[in-house]
Amino acid sequence: MGVRYIGSKARVAEAIVDLADRAGEGRFVDAFCGTGSVAAVAAERGWGVTVNDSLPSAVCMSVGAIVGRKDVPFTDVGGYHRAVALLNEVEGEPGFLHSQYSPASLQTAGIERRYFTEDNAARLDAMRQRIRMWSGEEVITRAEENLLLADLMQAANSVANISGTYGCFLKNWTTTARKRVALTPRVLPDRSTDIHAVVGDVFALNTTQDDIVYFDPPYTKRQYSAYYHILETLHAGDQPEVGGVTGLRPWQDKASVFCYKVKALEALTRLVLSTRAKKILLSYSNEGHVAKESLINALTEAGHVTVHEIKTIGRYRPNAQASAAGDTVIEYVFEIDPISCGTVTSGADDSEAAYA
Ligand SMILES: C[S@@+](CC[C@H](N)C(=O)[O-])C[C@H]1O[C@@H](n2cnc3c(N)ncnc32)[C@H](O)[C@@H]1O
Repeated sequence: MGVRYIGSKARVAEAIVDLADRAGEGRFVDAFCGTGSVAAVAAERGWGVTVNDSLPSAVCMSVGAIVGRKDVPFTDVGGYHRAVALLNEVEGEPGFLHSQYSPASLQTAGIERRYFTEDNAARLDAMRQRIRMWSGEEVITRAEENLLLADLMQAANSVANISGTYGCFLKNWTTTARKRVALTPRVLPDRSTDIHAVVGDVFALNTTQDDIVYFDPPYTKRQYSAYYHILETLHAGDQPEVGGVTGLRPWQDKASVFCYKVKALEALTRLVLSTRAKKILLSYSNEGHVAKESLINALTEAGHVTVHEIKTIGRYRPNAQASAAGDTVIEYVFEIDPISCGTVTSGADDSEAAYA
């Protein structure tokens, strides 16, 4: 099971990449890549891709979603499937996840955190340690390490006792949380891909006038660094000071300006105006902090704006109750052509037209 990610564009990625013009030298830049679902489609269509996110775990997931078989031969461990099998054979060894995110935390932190069973947490600790060892001994390359860490995060997610994010754990164990954690090798595309992976703030990302730049910023107050804190820790393999009921690691240094209602419009405008690109595609939602009309007004300063209503998708729902209460969400893609200035049109066909 892939990681359920707030705002994932997995279901609409094809439609988004359809808006990109493949001609020319430029790259497809997924500047808020998250799980990399959009960049993966672009890579499949032959683009060289740049993925960027402020969270290292997100960039790792994205590279894992894109990498081709030829990029990760796992020569020194006998191939990718053998590497996964070896990790799955590792004996559990209690470490940081076990001490903080399994019921063992009752002893170490005074709170019983039920994110993982003790057995699964100890297995995750041991697998993380094995990947670190292989990397340290140069048995695996950086790209191979990245793929195994992405697989490890997916494996953790499939047995996490949560309802979607790591913002909280469930009181009662789910059936899947009780299953033994194991990595599942993915089907890698039979190609090598030109991937440029960057961990950093989107405002620091370098792009060129030949690039298609895709922005999928957060549009609600939910901070990804807090909601996915355990993936960050699993990816880093570190032992941060954690606290509170959920064992949150320090996350404020990764707080996103786009998650604050009062700052979002200014930040979005500044970002688009300061971006060099052949075309900018910006995803936003009718449930976001900024109203569509305000965005259009601001974006026309940067160029010609076309608004596409790409598809109506279901809201990310953390639980059944929220799901029952949920209504539809409209996802917009604002296509900005920075060359000509100051006009607005609707999308090319009826299914896309959202603004007239
Ligand atoms: C809506 S999600 C992207 C989802 C992605 N398109 C997908 O399909 O999985 C927004 C992402 O933006 C990242 N982010 C938030 N603020 C950022 C910033 N200032 N710079 C870079 N990335 C940021 C978050 O960590 C999160 O992964």
